[in-house]
Amino acid sequence: MQDYLEVATKIAYEAGAIMKEVFAQGVAHTIKSDHSPVTDADKRINELVIQRIGQAYPTDSVLGEEGREMQESSHTWVCDPIDGTAAFMRGIPVSVFSLALVVDGEPQIGVVYDPHLDRLYTASKGGGAFMNGTPILTAENTELAHSYIETDGHSGFKNLSFFERALAADVRLLSFSSTIYAHMLVATGQIQGVVFPRTSPWDAASAKIIVEEAGGTTSDVHGKNQRYDRDISGLVSSCSEAFHKNLLALIAPSV
Ligand code: IPD
Ligand code: CA
Ligand code: CA
Repeated sequence: MQDYLEVATKIAYEAGAIMKEVFAQGVAHTIKSDHSPVTDADKRINELVIQRIGQAYPTDSVLGEEGREMQESSHTWVCDPIDGTAAFMRGIPVSVFSLALVVDGEPQIGVVYDPHLDRLYTASKGGGAFMNGTPILTAENTELAHSYIETDGHSGFKNLSFFERALAADVRLLSFSSTIYAHMLVATGQIQGVVFPRTSPWDAASAKIIVEEAGGTTSDVHGKNQRYDRDISGLVSSCSEAFHKNLLALIAPSV
């Protein structure tokens, strides 16, 4: 696992350098067919990941948001070159690079890099989670009241009654336009939960392993396990198992 982590970390720093360079220059974007924005940096970084993984592990697949290189393999590198493009192109420094090694559907390695704050989040299965090499842990909350929960994929919900129930339960709702960034805040104990209701695996694979290795609980929006190398049923992350039960009950009528 150490070898995989080293390769992924090197790529993350290279990706971060591209993000910083483009961010400093002011970011032009185009709109994709799914109506979401994409920048040159997203495409350059996705290409970089395909190249670097191709050199290091030529028989592995790469499933990136902006491009893929699929092989007959149990090993898939799932990548979001920039998570938080909407913020990135507006000059708002809330965006991260994300890469996970998923083996037979299960994330084994997760690396997330926030170049704006120079924060590198890493985890490997059974090996704990770290920020810049220091172990990280989720918060100890069990109750929803006064907790901080992030969600911003509103179109992924069946209905929006979740928001009313959350406010009535005295939950503080946050919205960052980078779901992986928000999951990292759960992993470091800064917020208690994230509800990501959409289907893209690159918005979830690294977050799942990093949050779990930091002591948190994750599942799809129905509380189930799932594969992370194909479309997913969302990702819910919580600081603790008890908190997760409460959060799943809160979202159940909306998912
Ligand atoms: C988006 C962000 C956002 C989430 C969207 C994603 P992108 O990713 O993670 O938080 O709500 O569903 O598409 O486009 O910035 O990679
Ligand atoms: Ca994303
Ligand atoms: Ca992206």
